[in-house]
Amino acid sequence: MKNSFFALRISARRVVGLVVLVVFVMVLYHTQYPDRMMDTFDSQMNVNKVDLFQIINVTKTPRESLFKEAEAISHITFDTVEKEDTVYTILILISSFITHRNRRIRIRETWGNSSMWATADKYKVVFLTGKVNTASSMIEIAEEAKISKDIVLLDIPENFYLLSKKVIVGLTWAKHNMKFKSILKGDDDTFMNIDNIIHFINQNKKTDGYFGNLMYHQPVERKGRYKLTKEEHKNDYFAPYCSGGGYILTNSTVYKIVPNFDLEKNLKIDDAYIGEVAFNAGINATHTSGFYMWNTWCEYVKNIKVSHPAKDPECNQFLLLRSLIDNRKHPRDPVLEKQKYYKNVSYFITTSKNRTN
Ligand SMILES: *[C@@H]1O[C@H](CO)[C@@H](O)[C@H](O)[C@H]1NC(C)=O
Ligand SMILES: *[C@@H]1O[C@H](CO)[C@@H](O)[C@H](O)[C@H]1NC(C)=O
Ligand SMILES: *[C@@H]1O[C@H](CO)[C@@H](O)[C@H](O)[C@H]1NC(C)=O
Ligand SMILES: *[C@@H]1O[C@H](CO)[C@@H](O)[C@H](O)[C@H]1NC(C)=O
Ligand SMILES: *[C@@H]1O[C@H](CO)[C@@H](O)[C@H](O)[C@H]1NC(C)=O
Repeated sequence: MKNSFFALRISARRVVGLVVLVVFVMVLYHTQYPDRMMDTFDSQMNVNKVDLFQIINVTKTPRESLFKEAEAISHITFDTVEKEDTVYTILILISSFITHRNRRIRIRETWGNSSMWATADKYKVVFLTGKVNTASSMIEIAEEAKISKDIVLLDIPENFYLLSKKVIVGLTWAKHNMKFKSILKGDDDTFMNIDNIIHFINQNKKTDGYFGNLMYHQPVERKGRYKLTKEEHKNDYFAPYCSGGGYILTNSTVYKIVPNFDLEKNLKIDDAYIGEVAFNAGINATHTSGFYMWNTWCEYVKNIKVSHPAKDPECNQFLLLRSLIDNRKHPRDPVLEKQKYYKNVSYFITTSKNRTN
């Protein structure tokens, strides 16, 4: 009697122990392999699995780099971007931290919304997001991607020092999946004037174009957030590059630099890395007007192509309305048109006036 009671208690304990173990393994599995979970999450998802041989057959790049390109593409967990035959005048690739859903929504609702600009030229915004070890974030991005159809999810962890990998995979993906006259790589805290960008692309005569806010003869930092050791970058100066908040690469440039990317050996500073690869491919970074990388006052300038930062929804909205009004795509607004900045800086304007008096 006593013995059998004891045996029962043991087995109950075993059952509880087993259940706990199973749950633990499941949680561990899901946090370690969220992409696998994603595969089963929704069969409707347009899962982009690498087909090495198809890649080899459709391109004429040297064999060695093709394996690198295939490897880069294999870091894509899924992409929900519709592949059409459309040739985009500008394909906009935005590095976006996975949890920055609000910024992506803002972009889709403001300058990313093609009905705002109503241009004859086609453009498309695609977000590149990385992975995190939070199952809920991974499920949320899948749900968002399914509806918005503009996300490429990479299995590369979200980390400031892995942004180069994000850009490498993103550009390689674009080369093999999309047709474009040019690509604009940007960040999710920017405002972009699509009309000005399209106008610039259409009048550009340079085949191997690399345009933006030129960083010329930039010293390599040896300490702090942006530090690179001598081992990581021997030279004390970077090759000329364009600031990462937004720069434009023509189709030809993308095709020339992608085969030279290296997922393992690259610079942690992603914009400087693009500069280096372009430089080695004989492509010159060209300083171009309209790329405002430190527009902290959110000043409206008629020639804006890219303005950074534009984290505030109001700043984004202000720059968009002023741009649309100037391009006659929005009714005039005398009050708004007098406003030069989103932030009301009349105080500063008054004091500087006083100074000149
Ligand atoms: C690649 O192309 C070759 C030659 O055209 C063909 O024999 C082969 O079947 C193709 N492979 C695939 C996977 O399509
Ligand atoms: C884009 O703009 C159109 C017209 O104003 C609007 O109907 C649509 O809902 C907008 N799309 C998004 C994602 O905000
Ligand atoms: C981009 O360049 C590649 C390689 O030169 C070419 O095959 C492709 O047709 C070009 N795409 C466009 C849209 O011009
Ligand atoms: C790049 O710039 C250098 C120096 O200005 C010039 O000599 C070279 O011809 C340029 N190359 C291209 C491809 O435009
Ligand atoms: C700035 O604020 C002041 C006081 O609130 C207001 O009178 C003025 O019209 C504002 N200026 C702009 C440009 O919005």
